[in-house]
Amino acid sequence: MGFKTDAIHAGQEPDPTTGAVTTPIYQTSTYVQEGLGKHKGFEYARTQNPTRTALEKNMAALECGVAGYAFASGMAATTALTHLLLKQGDHAICSDNLYGGTFRLFDKIVRNYGVEFTYANTSNLADVERAMRANTRMIFVETPTNPIMAITDIRGVSQIAHDSPECRLAVDNTFMSPYFQRPIELGADIVVHSTTKYLNGHSDSVGGIVVLNHKDDAERLQFIQNAAGAILSPFDSWLVLRGIKTLPVRMEAHNTNGIAIANYLGAKKQVKRIYYPGRPEHPGHDLAKKQMSGFGGMIAFELDGLEQARSFLGRVKLCSLAESLGGVETLISHPATMTHASVPAEERARLGITDGLVRISVGIEDVEDLIADLENAFASLA
Ligand SMILES: Cc1ncc(COP(=O)(O)O)c(C=O)c1O
Repeated sequence: MGFKTDAIHAGQEPDPTTGAVTTPIYQTSTYVQEGLGKHKGFEYARTQNPTRTALEKNMAALECGVAGYAFASGMAATTALTHLLLKQGDHAICSDNLYGGTFRLFDKIVRNYGVEFTYANTSNLADVERAMRANTRMIFVETPTNPIMAITDIRGVSQIAHDSPECRLAVDNTFMSPYFQRPIELGADIVVHSTTKYLNGHSDSVGGIVVLNHKDDAERLQFIQNAAGAILSPFDSWLVLRGIKTLPVRMEAHNTNGIAIANYLGAKKQVKRIYYPGRPEHPGHDLAKKQMSGFGGMIAFELDGLEQARSFLGRVKLCSLAESLGGVETLISHPATMTHASVPAEERARLGITDGLVRISVGIEDVEDLIADLENAFASLA
């Protein structure tokens, strides 16, 4: 089936009891058993829930994996991934421009368990190759990165990872969604998402999902999901399933508006630099065209320092000043003090996350209204 058909139907059959077309919200903590050891495959809702299962099957189909497991947040999904792949004495390589919360998890929590991390510029394959060690068990890549939109060659990194039989490549595909990028098709072993973003798409649920391409990894992650217990609730599973049905049309709209806003920003004299993979001057533009089928709606641009950014962000009205991204409404943020505040200042400076950097998650409103709002904010700058 095609992607749009799978987005609507994969993992979802009409309810066997009533014929309801939409997967019901099975809001139950347990299931009655006919006798000792005799049940319908459902014993306790941390372990199995039909609404969650429908979402997990749906996402496994869209990301072309063998199975998926849904968690209470994107960070819970990444935490489960570290439980799957890393133990004391192991080494992991990560993109040096990860979402700040992912860096915080690795640096402030997982490292305490005796795992060593190397933060590499994964856009440069030679840097990844140099960072590899005999005990490297995970390469974790975000592409495009948050917020600088750097692109990593997924196929190239997967070849480096697979030179070592025990190393897995995991890709955070939150920014593109499987509609525009499918890492497993490009050689990755595991895909992780914050479903909070484009998958749910309506800024009304927090969740995460891991999709795996190896059966043994999938079995182990299912065990971890049940044992550690950070599951996605039935209601949130239903919201994300509902969101995914319109993922293709929303992503097309985000992409169209994203290109228009990037072109508008590119022509503004107050914008010192713009980060959008759809722009020909973006260093990852050619690679993005090869491994992604659209450029999405995430853009970062640089103004002249903190005061200018503060003044600009204080002036926008239609664009909401808020963390998060991927919803139908346009959100605008200041990475240095918001999403990336947990990244040390000198590291932020090295990565280009300056005090003048503004990130915009372009929504699907009328683009003329968004441009008018930005224009009004630019007019306030000296
Ligand atoms: C790229 C990326 N990955 C993971 C996360 C974490 O997801 P959550 O906030 O659902 O825990 C975020 C959150 O902003 C993100 O932007």
